[in-house]
Amino acid sequence: MREIRIRKSKKPDILAIQRLLSTYFLDMEGLGPEDFVLAEIDGKITGCAALIRSEFHGKNFLEIHSIAVHPNFRGKGIGTRLVKYLLTTIGDPCCDLYVRTTAPIFFEKLSFKKIDNSEKLSLWEDCEKCEHFEKCTQYAMKHSYNS
Ligand SMILES: CC(C)(COP(=O)(O)OP(=O)(O)OC[C@H]1O[C@@H](n2cnc3c(N)ncnc32)[C@H](O)[C@@H]1OP(=O)(O)O)[C@@H](O)C(=O)NCCC(=O)NCCS
Repeated sequence: MREIRIRKSKKPDILAIQRLLSTYFLDMEGLGPEDFVLAEIDGKITGCAALIRSEFHGKNFLEIHSIAVHPNFRGKGIGTRLVKYLLTTIGDPCCDLYVRTTAPIFFEKLSFKKIDNSEKLSLWEDCEKCEHFEKCTQYAMKHSYNS
């Protein structure tokens, strides 16, 4: 495959990010282009992922958000490259890193482990308030820096 370039996003990338996310009925959910990293092949944006800082009940943590790879480019290691790039930008782990995802196997391969519902409720206000919490298809997972 042609070379995959991973880079930080800039303002003009916003439309390409929105287009990519909309493929999976996702939106930017209040995030800005500066929150994203992108995968590019021959100048075409083929993947994106965001890293955000969150706080709830006095706990500060990081969260991977809005990860998506263009349907024609899935399964080629792009998602892995994006997550690994985000991990390098964190540097010295300042706080725990989480993700809420419908793709737990993908994240397990990147050293994330499922957490239980009580921890999920302690981290996200929208989960705490959600009437579909018991039927939620999103797994909450925590990254283990040691494995
Ligand atoms: C999930 C996603 C970001 C993964 O990106 P990708 O570039 O396809 O993933 P990779 O090629 O890096 O895959 C790495 C490994 O995870 C596996 N994997 C990837 N997506 C998977 C999924 N949805 N379910 C199970 N395994 C998956 C791959 O088979 C691969 O396994 P291998 O190393 O044994 O070959 C991408 O498939 C995607 O955009 N999915 C749709 C949007 C979505 O579900 N986003 C996540 C919501 S949080």
